[in-house]
Amino acid sequence: MKRTLQLLLVTIFSLQLSARELQSPDGNLQLRFSLSEDGRPFYELLYKSKPVIKPSGMGLELKNSPSLIRGFEIKDLTYDRKDETWTPVWGETKEIRNQYNEMLVVVYQPSEDRQMKIRFRLFNDGLGFRYEFEKQEKLNYFQVADEHTEFALTGDHTAFWIPGDYDTNEYYYTKTRLSEVDASKVDGTGIGTHGYFHKHAVQSPLMMKTDEGLYLNIFEAALIDYSAMHLMINKENMVLTSSLTPDALGTKAYMQTPHHTPWRTVIVSDRAADILASKTILNLNEPGKIEDTSFIKPQKYIGIWWGMHVPGKMTWNYAHEPNIKLKSTDWNALTPLPQHGANNVNVRRYIDFAAEHGFSSVLVEGWNVGWEDWAGNWKEEVFDFVTPYPDFDIKALNEYAHQKGVKLMMHHETSSSVTNYERRIDDAIKVMSTHGYEAVKTGYVGWIIPRGEKHDGQWMVNHYVRVAEKMADARMMLNAHEAVRPTGLHRTWPNWLACEAARGNEFNAWSAGNPPAHETILPFTRLMGGPMDYTPGIFELKMDYYEPGNTNQVHTTLAKQLALYVTMYSPLQMAADLPENYEKRMDAFQFIKEVAVDWDESHYLEAEPGEYITVARKAKGRDSWFIGAITNEQGRETTINFSFLDPGVVYEATIYSDGKDAHWKDNPGDYQIRTLRVTNKTKLRQKLAPGGGFAISIHKRK
Ligand code: NOJ
Ligand code: CA
Repeated sequence: MKRTLQLLLVTIFSLQLSARELQSPDGNLQLRFSLSEDGRPFYELLYKSKPVIKPSGMGLELKNSPSLIRGFEIKDLTYDRKDETWTPVWGETKEIRNQYNEMLVVVYQPSEDRQMKIRFRLFNDGLGFRYEFEKQEKLNYFQVADEHTEFALTGDHTAFWIPGDYDTNEYYYTKTRLSEVDASKVDGTGIGTHGYFHKHAVQSPLMMKTDEGLYLNIFEAALIDYSAMHLMINKENMVLTSSLTPDALGTKAYMQTPHHTPWRTVIVSDRAADILASKTILNLNEPGKIEDTSFIKPQKYIGIWWGMHVPGKMTWNYAHEPNIKLKSTDWNALTPLPQHGANNVNVRRYIDFAAEHGFSSVLVEGWNVGWEDWAGNWKEEVFDFVTPYPDFDIKALNEYAHQKGVKLMMHHETSSSVTNYERRIDDAIKVMSTHGYEAVKTGYVGWIIPRGEKHDGQWMVNHYVRVAEKMADARMMLNAHEAVRPTGLHRTWPNWLACEAARGNEFNAWSAGNPPAHETILPFTRLMGGPMDYTPGIFELKMDYYEPGNTNQVHTTLAKQLALYVTMYSPLQMAADLPENYEKRMDAFQFIKEVAVDWDESHYLEAEPGEYITVARKAKGRDSWFIGAITNEQGRETTINFSFLDPGVVYEATIYSDGKDAHWKDNPGDYQIRTLRVTNKTKLRQKLAPGGGFAISIHKRK
């Protein structure tokens, strides 16, 4: 104990002696860098003069080589700053300000004759830092055994977490103190591949709130050629330590200099809504690499999809045949199932519906051979991505769609046989180009092949980027399911419209589902790195509609499903329910038809993780606004202040709200619609049912 105290005092003393400082442009955040007595780099972060991250160690442990953790001396330290504004191809705002102060520390390890740079960028709402390794004689190729970046917290904060797991993020969130995190208590039922790697490990982004009311988000930006970062909690001292995803050999990253790690980020605010508005993750990513972005179109789509998720309606597979060998199967000889969803008649019906109601695309899953025997067998030759089933006339259907101004959206479920996909992707893209596809949804259900690789590992991280680049070269947009969670790479590859990488609406159809708080947490966690293909818009909310006695249901009201189009930002939004379910409620469907997917302005009016979010957004290039407000299982009342509207203009607002008796559990489908005139002086009080929400469209009065 005495020795620990002595060590602590020595450390604190030496930290103070050699601290180097950096301030955010507004002065609210302060960063201190120092070396401990034994030459370990430490950083510390203060917000409004109070510690947020206490002195925290840095460095990497290597495989077969001395670590890059201790024995350093400061060789050089330089400062820089930037203040620029850039225009995203699509996004929550028309322009993004990238303003930061930078400190670059060069540390040298004399015993090994190696040097490492640590680049810190301090924005007004957070910190980003990364390790950089120049090409040097003694540091050429190296393997990372683990990264030891610490985040020493100031207390036992409240956290919104999912278990540390290298293969999935499709968990529901648990809200506990950090000291209470126990991944073994989380039920992974319904998730194809799951397994926590340590009871006290959680995934990033990790959202936390301190007892003093400070909001903290720890994540990473620009994950390229490295593995995803999870966080280990030391419950003794509340220090989180980075824990990278291993490959099949247990190695966490393979490096060849020059190289650098992704940015480690800490976003801080005393206002929760500001965490949602943060652009720091995007700003830490590289500018766009696609020169001609004219093929990239934010859009709403429908799909032959929900029918496969609800009970008894449709199937992906054409026939029943549980043992398929791709090369030797005669598909024409199989007996088709009546529920095969991707058939010519059905696809035409969806195309007609899309054309009539102004949707850009129709996703068709189950169009290609192989679905009879696709998951669970760790099989390599699952799909070829080019051969349609006998009842899907790829040429005629695309022509029919194009005549009606609609595009079909390609689906490449890889079944995680990634070797197979990589071998066939060029041919698959050719088929897409030949038939005029503009977008693809990829999927990685199952354990990865090469066997032993992980969804979050470096090999897969590189694969997802390769796919995004290949699609960009072919002028295709991408939506990746079950991929590693995004880290802002859509700034660099804006054709990468969305990812799933979290527990989507589909879980409500076939599992215990998503608790009502889920959608109030996702924007603070998963969405920090980029848009999610959450697939909102379910109107028929209880599964006993399809199958009497089935107790699964969507855990929201219908009005909250509408609000999600605004609260869950994505340039790619699905109207996920079946056309026939919309046809019965055309008045409510009107909101989905109207709502924008690309924005000039976004105002997070109020937010509290796990409780509520209210946001107002102005449609790109139009004088129309849309508001979304959602709550958890508690009903609430809120007041919208319309001061964001242009002064002196009269608008007409249509309010889609929960009905008087709405309740997510027993009466989710109860909604009401009313219109009123509003100006920038209007204040509107509005109720949200338990598990409910409301959506408002606002147009200038003609
Ligand atoms: C899981 C995806 O999340 C879902 O959207 C898709 O329909 C199935 N896999 C089949 O690919
Ligand atoms: Ca999924």
